[in-house]
Amino acid sequence: MDKPNLKKQDPELYNILEKEEFKQQNKLSMIASENFTSKAVREAVGSVFMNKYSEGYPGKRYYEGNYNIDELENLAISRTKELFELPEDWEVNVQPLSGSPANLAVYIGLLKPGDKIMGMYLPDGGHLSHGWSYSPKSEEAEFVPNAMFYQGGSRKVNVTSKFFEAVQYKTNPETQMFDYEEIEKIALEQKPKLIITGGTAYPREIDYKRMKAIAEKVDAYYLADVAHEAGLIAGKANKSPVGIADVVTFTTHKTLRCNRGAMILARTDLMKKINRAIFPGLQGGPHNHSIAGITVGLKEALSPEFQEYAAQIVKNAQKLAESLMEFNFQMVTGGTDKHLLLINLSNKPILGKKFARALDYAGIITNYNTMPGETRPPADPSALRIGTPWITTRGMKETEMVQIANWMNSVMEEVGKWADLDFDIFEENVKKSELISNIAKDVEKLCTEFPLDI
Ligand SMILES: Cc1ncc(COP(=O)(O)O)c(C=O)c1O
Repeated sequence: MDKPNLKKQDPELYNILEKEEFKQQNKLSMIASENFTSKAVREAVGSVFMNKYSEGYPGKRYYEGNYNIDELENLAISRTKELFELPEDWEVNVQPLSGSPANLAVYIGLLKPGDKIMGMYLPDGGHLSHGWSYSPKSEEAEFVPNAMFYQGGSRKVNVTSKFFEAVQYKTNPETQMFDYEEIEKIALEQKPKLIITGGTAYPREIDYKRMKAIAEKVDAYYLADVAHEAGLIAGKANKSPVGIADVVTFTTHKTLRCNRGAMILARTDLMKKINRAIFPGLQGGPHNHSIAGITVGLKEALSPEFQEYAAQIVKNAQKLAESLMEFNFQMVTGGTDKHLLLINLSNKPILGKKFARALDYAGIITNYNTMPGETRPPADPSALRIGTPWITTRGMKETEMVQIANWMNSVMEEVGKWADLDFDIFEENVKKSELISNIAKDVEKLCTEFPLDI
């Protein structure tokens, strides 16, 4: 690591950073929403662009001295238009600070407070910012696995459910996939002003045309939140909602492999309102250093290698699913079209929370997750979510996926015998396990063969 100033000026922070760098380099990061950015992206993020205030938009700023920032933002916009093949009558906003504010800006721009929005049910794999609320008293009733409609409840967990009336559709209880006929029925009944697709743990592609047709039937806007899939869409490994949905939002830091941030793409007529919702509605000065990093990442995504990368992410996820299924791990929806797998662990001795912790000790970082038909609390749910974007950035391919599935199965076999122990005692046993520390060493060796060096 070459950061002489930081080391000298703030050794305490430097020490934490060094540990994080070591961890990222030597463990397998398999959280589906994470990725590893290139040195060039990180250089741009750490640049003097962070020092400039630039409230407004290119050519219309409220501060002087923004000629370079205008050039930067215009470059970000033109690269986004090229990458996502925007139709002539679509525009881009690159200023959202992150995915949740981007979604909120869409609602603020297109709706009135109290209007009805309809997104995917959170425990089935939706996102908090699509209007999550629940009712603690009727928890059991909420988890009726066959009902496809969810009314929400008195606990307005996310701000989007406080300011808008949020209802949700669930996935089909048998297939665990979108059931477009049911979604249409719910939409006709509920008459939302905005329908949202997208989520954090749905492993299948969405039929954007069908969703747009449903939205049209009830005169609603259709927002496709493709935070997870943006890189797969850019790399042509997944279908694109651009030009089909009314609005598309995404975070930039997942499969798209940029630094943290978000974007909104929309038809020009809608974008005017959404721009005003971002600034001055919701945000002040854009984070120009973030926009700079994203601009570099967009250039990387425009390269032919990025298409190979996106295709490999999906191949890796599919190979991993296939290999895990050989060990009788159950995949929600039976597999994946994307970069993520949701593993239903209810046929295994250990569920998501304990398994994720045991895997971390083995050098494999994942997260526990709820799943369709979930009957357990979100802090201790039935499933595990894993993703392949980061390990594909390392250059890993199908052979390594087979190896990772083997390790995951060995960890499950080892820790299954401690299933009944309280979490802390379970963790103590995991820490002492020779098998797990040997896997951690093997993982470290594999990481050395596939260094993070982009
Ligand atoms: C589908 C979806 N939308 C929005 C977001 C929110 O992004 P952020 O965490 O940047 O607010 C996420 C993040 O995981 C997401 O998966």
